[in-house]
Amino acid sequence: MSAEYPVARPRRLRRSPVLRRMVAGTRLHPADLILPLFAKEGISEPQPVASMPGVVQHTRDSLRKAAHDAAAAGVGGLILFGIPAVKDARGSAADDPDGVLQVALRDVAAEVGDSIVVMADTCLDEFTDHGHCGILTPSGDVDNDLTLERYASVAVAQAEAGAQMVAPSGMMDGQVGAIRAALDAAGHGTVPILAYSAKYASAFYGPFRDAAECAPQFGDRSTHQQDPAGRLGEALREVRLDLAEGADAVMVKPALAYLDIIAGVRAEVDVPVAAYQVSGEYAMIEAAAANGWVDRERMIMESLVAIKRAGADLILTYWATEVARRL
Ligand code: PBG
Repeated sequence: MSAEYPVARPRRLRRSPVLRRMVAGTRLHPADLILPLFAKEGISEPQPVASMPGVVQHTRDSLRKAAHDAAAAGVGGLILFGIPAVKDARGSAADDPDGVLQVALRDVAAEVGDSIVVMADTCLDEFTDHGHCGILTPSGDVDNDLTLERYASVAVAQAEAGAQMVAPSGMMDGQVGAIRAALDAAGHGTVPILAYSAKYASAFYGPFRDAAECAPQFGDRSTHQQDPAGRLGEALREVRLDLAEGADAVMVKPALAYLDIIAGVRAEVDVPVAAYQVSGEYAMIEAAAANGWVDRERMIMESLVAIKRAGADLILTYWATEVARRL
């Protein structure tokens, strides 16, 4: 009878908290986390983002405070987004030295630049009146190569304002190469590029478009962002191209619905892999928690551990400061 009982018992290592802690294979660290922050021009009070409870569009003062809090908690990096007061077809504010994002970068770099990595999202959708990520052709397509010229100029303006790293998110072909060449030519050869390499045309970005006021006025982003149904190989091709163009780190976005892509990219490359836990992932958990349907803190930690376990070295998350404090 007793011979039928198992000798191998996985439960032995789960018996106590200290055993579980010792054998845990995945550990989150505050320095792995990157906090996205929104800087809005011309407001005197922080503006709550309705679809992202707890997230605000910042004033210059509240932005400095949020950056300071993140740095004090040990968060590894900040990624700044700007929302200008005036938008136009070419997104002129994006590379204006006095544009909202450049002002924010200068403020934050001066405040915390020695204790946290200050990054800029490099794109045009927050700055264009049509909400697309680039320059439009007369028929309303995003013109790839005209857009590259804009991205190059935007990245240089961001580096001049104090960005310690730039993160192109527009999914134009050749964007990393164009930005690398422009940064090098402008004397910013030491500024690394975190490429949004495998970025999907995702419904999970919905709340971000409120936060950054960048919903496309017509059409969508499916001619440049990847199809969620695409093969891993499509993501790997984007990653390889970005590395060949000089990317220093690569990103998969969104995170939780793309853990297979994170794992596949991790297996392919030897640079740091980042994953973006996007606005919809944040909103889902906050909304369910607000209804009392889930345990908010456990869900946040479990989702982050899952993203790390899949292979992400770095995680962009709106919960970065809160989680860093808890770790
Ligand atoms: C583009 C950009 C987007 C996000 C980050 N950078 C929006 C988009 O591609 O439509 C989404 C982030 C999120 O949903 O949290 N500048």
